[in-house]
Amino acid sequence: MAKQDSDISSENKDQKEALKDYWNDTYKKDISKLNWYEEKPRPSLKLIKMCNLKKDAAILNVGAGATILIDELLKLGYNNVIANDLSANALSKIQERLGENNDKVTWLVDDLTDPKELLTLGEIDLWVDRAVLHFFTEKKEQDTYFQIIKKLVKKEGFVIIAVFNFKTDDESEALPVYRFEQNMLQFKLGPEFKLIEDFNYTFKGPYGDTREYVYTLFQRI
Ligand SMILES: C[S@@+](CC[C@H](N)C(=O)[O-])C[C@H]1O[C@@H](n2cnc3c(N)ncnc32)[C@H](O)[C@@H]1O
Repeated sequence: MAKQDSDISSENKDQKEALKDYWNDTYKKDISKLNWYEEKPRPSLKLIKMCNLKKDAAILNVGAGATILIDELLKLGYNNVIANDLSANALSKIQERLGENNDKVTWLVDDLTDPKELLTLGEIDLWVDRAVLHFFTEKKEQDTYFQIIKKLVKKEGFVIIAVFNFKTDDESEALPVYRFEQNMLQFKLGPEFKLIEDFNYTFKGPYGDTREYVYTLFQRI
């Protein structure tokens, strides 16, 4: 018997809830044991420095997880930082670390593939993603992600995307992943976004294993 629209929509909802539970459970661990844990997010900071932003620039870190990048941005004096993630547990790890400074950040639990709160934000100066987009393996999810960028990033604003490149072995990942090259990101962003910088980067995780990323910086023209 053919599936009804209502069956498909409830299956999708169940899958989304399962994914949210997966990420929330992941962040019950000590974050320094996570495969993607970076003690100092140097490649992202290098690209952020190149943007030469004012201290009150709106910086949106999507899929921020429990990243130290938020702490580093505050240390650098940025005072309009927004941290987004699907997992409230992830963001609470950063909040605990920041203590009373946590009210200096805007927290946004929302799904990049089904955004609600994200769409209520005003224009932003910088979008930063490390290790999130590659989990969106469906065209529809990727299209939604790039639509949010196009809605939020202001003219002359910047986009940093760091994702697995083709050298990463996708078979060994816990979740399905999609691999990218900079020209695929350029295609998705379209001609309004100019590639300013890109480099490949080998990330060594806490267990000594490596993952291959492509880091890109685009500017909206
Ligand atoms: C590999 S972690 C990277 C975290 C962080 N960017 C870092 O560099 O440490 C991927 C993150 O994406 C988040 N995530 C996964 N799917 C998401 C979605 N649909 N919307 C928002 N965040 C999502 C996860 O909760 C997780 O924190």
